[in-house]
This record gives sequence, C-alpha cells and structure tokens, in this order.
Amino acid sequence: MKQVRKAVFPVAGLGTRFLPATKAMPKEMLPIVDKPLIQYAVEEAAAAGITDMIFVTGRHKRAIEDHFDSAPELKRDLTSKGKDTLLRILNEVVPPGINFIFVRQPEPLGLGHAVLCAQPVVGDEPFAVLLADDLIDADRPVIGQLINARSTKNGGNVLAVQTVPREKTNQYGIVQIAENGTNVPVIKSIVEKPEPDKAPSTLAVIGRYVLEPSIFESLRNIERGAGGEIQLTDAIARELIKDQTYGCRYEGTRFDCGSKQGFLNATVHFARKSGYEIL
Ligand code: G1P
Repeated sequence: MKQVRKAVFPVAGLGTRFLPATKAMPKEMLPIVDKPLIQYAVEEAAAAGITDMIFVTGRHKRAIEDHFDSAPELKRDLTSKGKDTLLRILNEVVPPGINFIFVRQPEPLGLGHAVLCAQPVVGDEPFAVLLADDLIDADRPVIGQLINARSTKNGGNVLAVQTVPREKTNQYGIVQIAENGTNVPVIKSIVEKPEPDKAPSTLAVIGRYVLEPSIFESLRNIERGAGGEIQLTDAIARELIKDQTYGCRYEGTRFDCGSKQGFLNATVHFARKSGYEIL
C-alpha cells in the first residue's frame, strides 16, 4: 500500500463572505489569533507525516506563496535584535523537509476541478485534501486519523464525517453509510448539498479527504453538478463502485471558518487556549 505523502489545499476561492476583509487578501490568510487559517491546515498535514504541500491557487493569492517562502530580511532583522521567540515562530512556518508547490486553477469551476488541477503534481499516489475553512482542534491531527483509518482498511478513499443539524444538509456533501456502530463505516452513497427533506441522512462530509488517484479519472468525466460546479462529491460518488470508500468519525472540535459565526467561535476558542482573557 502506497503511503500518503502529498496534500492538496484548494485555495482559489474568492472568499466573498468575508468582504471587505478579503477584497485584497486571500481568505485563507485571515488569522485565528495570530496564525493564518492556511497555516493551521499545513501544520496538521505536516504533523501527519505529509511532506509535499500542493496549493491550488488563483489570481490574488500571492500572499499565500509569500507566506510559505523564506523571509531573509525579516530573519536578519529579528536575529540582529535578538528576538529569539519571534525568530522561532518565523522559522516554524517553513519547516525543513517540507516542499511547497503551487499550481493554478485558471477558472473557478469548483472544488472537484481544483483537485483535478493538482493531478500533474500528485501523479499516481494516494493523497490528502484539506479545506482550510474547516479548522479542527484535535489532539491527533485529523488528516492523520484518516490516514490511519485508510491503513487499517488496506487502502480506499476516506472522508471525515460528522453529524450536522438537518436544516444544514444543503451546506455539505451528505453520505449514507452501510453500518452504524463503527468509527470507519463504509459509504454507500453520497450527494452534494441536498435539501433537508431530500437528504439521505444528516452525516456530513467535513473538509478532510484521503483519496486514491483513480479519483482523477472520475473528475475528468463528470458533468457540472450542484451550483453549476465540478463537484468533488460527484466524482467520489462514481468511485463508490470502484474503490471502497469509508467515512471517518474523527476526534476533534471543528469550526466552520467559512462562516463569520464559526470564525468568531474559533477565535474565542484558540484565544482562550493561548491564555487570553475573553471579556
Ligand atoms: C465543500 C464540499 C462539501 C463538503 C464541505 C465541507 O463545500 O463541496 O461536500 O461537505 O466542503 O466543508 P463548500 O463548503 O466548499 O461549499
């Protein structure tokens, strides 16, 4: 079984929900306390043993490339002033042995299309996908929990899943599972953003995936789906008949940082964790 060494971060979205903050700044660079959302996701992947971080970017996303680049002038400045703590924080952004790779998504055609744009870099290997909007505070990195689940099943696709209120099914990929009572159930069906009265269950896909490379063929062959976009969910639905696909009920607290409420909740949670007093 091939190991998971590569992670794809789709970061080409416009982030219109956070305007005006995201007019000139990528939404993935919005900080929770003092760390950009995208860095939390990269740290999670690195902690799970992933070495190749592949960003699928678009126009106006240069700040992400700059963030994961070296900053010699900043280093010189901090070194000469003896600011060791800040120097350590700076060095941690780009850990040794980690490769940062950037590919472009020429048009915003959806999450599935973004993942397909990474194919030339991913090649014929299983890979992870992390959506930085979903910030998960966990003792064990959630993407690592998915990778472990995949190992116990000897391969296959693994999707992070969590139960959501029925009125929210139209915000998520929703799965139907074969058996209850296990943390890694087989997925029988998956549908993108069904209305509450049509949803086959309330078990939703959260933005962490480990996928077999055969997904690329499905991604190339699907039509536009929900919202007129090429949906990753639709490609996974095709895979269900080829590769075994599992849900993973992960351990951790998830914040939907694609919404202002979730972003604020995450800010308060991580601020408290860092010892700040919230009035
Ligand atoms: C995407 C996926 C959806 C998934 C969600 C998790 O939707 O299309 O299936 O449940 O991420 O956050 P988005 O939030 O990008 O609209």
